[in-house]
Amino acid sequence: QVIEAEGLLVLPGFIDSHVHFRDPGGPHKEDFFSGTRAALAGGVTTVLDMPNTQPATDTREHLYEKAALLASKAVVDYGLYFGATDTNIEEAASLANEVAAMKLYMGSSTGSLLVTEFSPIYRHFKTFPLDKPLVVHAEDEQSLKYFGALGSQDHNQSRPPLSAQIALSRALAIAEKTGRVLHVAHTTTEREIELILEARQKGVRVTFEVTPLHLFLNEEDQHRLGNFGKVNPPLRSVSDQTALWRNFAAIDTIGTDHAPHTRAEKEQPYAQAPSGIPGVQTLLPLLFNATIEGKVTLAEIIQRCVVNPARIFGLKRKGALEVGKDADIVLIDPRQAYEITDQQMLSKCGWTPFAGTQVSGKIQQVFVRGVLAYAHDTCLAQPGSGKPVSYEAR
Ligand code: NCD
Ligand code: ZN
Ligand code: ZN
Repeated sequence: QVIEAEGLLVLPGFIDSHVHFRDPGGPHKEDFFSGTRAALAGGVTTVLDMPNTQPATDTREHLYEKAALLASKAVVDYGLYFGATDTNIEEAASLANEVAAMKLYMGSSTGSLLVTEFSPIYRHFKTFPLDKPLVVHAEDEQSLKYFGALGSQDHNQSRPPLSAQIALSRALAIAEKTGRVLHVAHTTTEREIELILEARQKGVRVTFEVTPLHLFLNEEDQHRLGNFGKVNPPLRSVSDQTALWRNFAAIDTIGTDHAPHTRAEKEQPYAQAPSGIPGVQTLLPLLFNATIEGKVTLAEIIQRCVVNPARIFGLKRKGALEVGKDADIVLIDPRQAYEITDQQMLSKCGWTPFAGTQVSGKIQQVFVRGVLAYAHDTCLAQPGSGKPVSYEAR
């Protein structure tokens, strides 16, 4: 097979370590085929899927049922998270080597997973294998309720940075006490980054994720986007957004928090509209374009979207080939410019907050484990060709 790549750049396939593909339970928003196909079109060849599906991925049975259901649908490789509940402490620990990580929601978001009491949080931190990532959604339920109760329709007023800082401080303190590895999902404010870096200084084993949403959008966009900009944590001030770029060197992973909801769901009144925004297909295009604009280097984005996620989540394959070293390849034309549109989106939700954005760098071909899976706007891969990843024992 001869690959014509003159004038193109060769990148490793990206790893999106934070997606919500809604399978099982939310097929009208996304299913594992539509979600992985959107990933593939965006040059993402491995995804880690969150546990807030229906039923939640919070028991051995639910994990195995989900794994069996997804096997015939994927077109990129994938791993699954296990979701913490008040009571599944031992069960979670016993499944550690079969999942990418455990996810613990300290504040409520889409779905029913939530652990707010100190005791179960502490026991999960202590019992889940210490070297295996525990990923926290660090928003504080008490302050969410308090500020939510003010009845404000303004997203930023009802969800102040404070809510994330309280939960994050708790998580960092418990991680320090237990000596465990902690990965903070969707870090959005300058203060949170300060808290994480201070903790790191003290020897706390903490890494953190930033989303493209919070890198490329802010509360000004929230006004323009309305509910289509409603997300947990919310879009932040320009000054917090700027702080993410200023601290780019410290960011460990960039995960999209791809969280599709239908237009109809988003068009409900503010209070009823679900939180979450799709993003798996626009991750690489937006970041690649940022390299063209000179905001970051290609090496810096590959570090955060391939190398670090593979290391943090201990991703490997049967046969011991590491992700990113097994011919997951993206060919991109750096000169070809185009406009991102809703119509291009392969997510079932069919919209993107980045519609209308001009970017340079058109994805031409994507290979998964050496096999041409996507070429010139067409998905060639068959459902079921995407395989579960395996994990370093920890
Ligand atoms: C996510 C979803 O819809 O699943 N929503 C969101 O606003 N980010 C859940 C989450 O990551 O909190
Ligand atoms: Zn979250
Ligand atoms: Zn999420």
